[in-house]
Amino acid sequence: MVFIPALLIFFASLAAAHFDLVYPHSRGDPFAAPASEYIYPCTGYNATNNRTVWPTTGGSLVVHFHHTFTYVWINLGLGNQTTAFTISLMPEGAGVLPYNETGNGTICLPKVTIPAGSGVVDGGNGSLQVITVGDGGTALYNCADLTFSSSASLLTAGQGDCVNSTGVSMRLLSQQTNGTSAVPSIAQSTSTSSASASAGSATSAGEKAVQLSSSYFSVGIASIFMALGAVSGL
Ligand SMILES: *[C@@H]1O[C@H](CO)[C@@H](O)[C@H](O)[C@H]1NC(C)=O
Ligand SMILES: *[C@@H]1O[C@H](CO)[C@@H](O)[C@H](O)[C@H]1NC(C)=O
Ligand SMILES: *[C@@H]1O[C@H](CO)[C@@H](O)[C@H](O)[C@H]1NC(C)=O
Ligand SMILES: *[C@@H]1O[C@H](CO)[C@@H](O)[C@H](O)[C@H]1NC(C)=O
Ligand SMILES: *[C@@H]1O[C@H](CO)[C@@H](O)[C@H](O)[C@H]1NC(C)=O
Ligand SMILES: *[C@@H]1O[C@H](CO)[C@@H](O)[C@H](O)[C@H]1NC(C)=O
Ligand SMILES: *[C@@H]1O[C@H](CO)[C@@H](O)[C@H](O)[C@H]1NC(C)=O
Ligand SMILES: *[C@@H]1O[C@H](CO)[C@@H](O)[C@H](O)[C@H]1NC(C)=O
Repeated sequence: MVFIPALLIFFASLAAAHFDLVYPHSRGDPFAAPASEYIYPCTGYNATNNRTVWPTTGGSLVVHFHHTFTYVWINLGLGNQTTAFTISLMPEGAGVLPYNETGNGTICLPKVTIPAGSGVVDGGNGSLQVITVGDGGTALYNCADLTFSSSASLLTAGQGDCVNSTGVSMRLLSQQTNGTSAVPSIAQSTSTSSASASAGSATSAGEKAVQLSSSYFSVGIASIFMALGAVSGL
């Protein structure tokens, strides 16, 4: 991947908004230049050998958010050094719609389910990608490297890192069709259902949604996304 310094400076000059991927732990420090959460798909770091052992059916996710609200997608890619995060870990029925995370603090999803048939095997490697899109349309990325294990455990909800801050919540947007128009609305989040994998497609649901989100939320995200795609040679 080749970075263009002028673009990095441009991205760094955007609002200093970010999130911390706490568990599974992110690749190196995303705030240590030239790394940046503005860099698709994984902050500018390649996959590391410092992998979190995560259950083959899905594991826990802990993120520190720092906005009043942000939209969130969770994707998975398989292999040692993947750049194709084509497996959506959004709950079944989410389609391309994200979570809406509200509040400045910690969210722990005790189990983010990996859909059956995704190709995850005991002992295999992969990487998790979390994408957030702010109200202004700025996309942020961070990734964590995984080794899947059928004997790995979930974090215990309500203990250690797996606690939600008071007043912080994450709900799935659902799509209500009204005639021919689609209107996003709030629905209860669920961490027990599984998503349909988009394996085989060139981009994941989250990535498509990042592009689609421009029509709902923002200006500029599509062009930023395309600029990043061009920079990363995708
Ligand atoms: C590996 O990850 C653990 C957990 O986040 C961290 O404490 C440790 O410093 C990391 N090691 C390296 C070499 O990055
Ligand atoms: C990532 O790996 C590629 C291929 O091995 C290498 O050319 C590149 O320099 C690496 N990037 C970083 C940031 O380590
Ligand atoms: C998974 O990655 C680790 C190091 O990151 C490596 O030692 C191991 O061989 C890999 N496993 C597979 C199945 O590729
Ligand atoms: C979020 O909270 C931290 C302290 O917990 C504070 O430093 C930061 O400014 C807050 N961010 C926003 C957007 O309120
Ligand atoms: C992943 O890395 C390990 C260790 O370097 C290697 O043995 C294995 O063949 C790699 N797997 C793939 C699919 O490249
Ligand atoms: C997301 O949540 C924020 C804060 O609760 C709210 O202002 C915003 O309208 C929500 N977005 C959608 C699309 O419902
Ligand atoms: C945190 O809140 C989300 C919904 O906002 C919920 O799905 C999750 O189970 C909560 N986590 C814990 C540890 O209670
Ligand atoms: C749904 O459609 C009806 C009739 O076309 C309209 O009156 C109403 O405002 C629409 N609701 C939304 C949320 O767009």
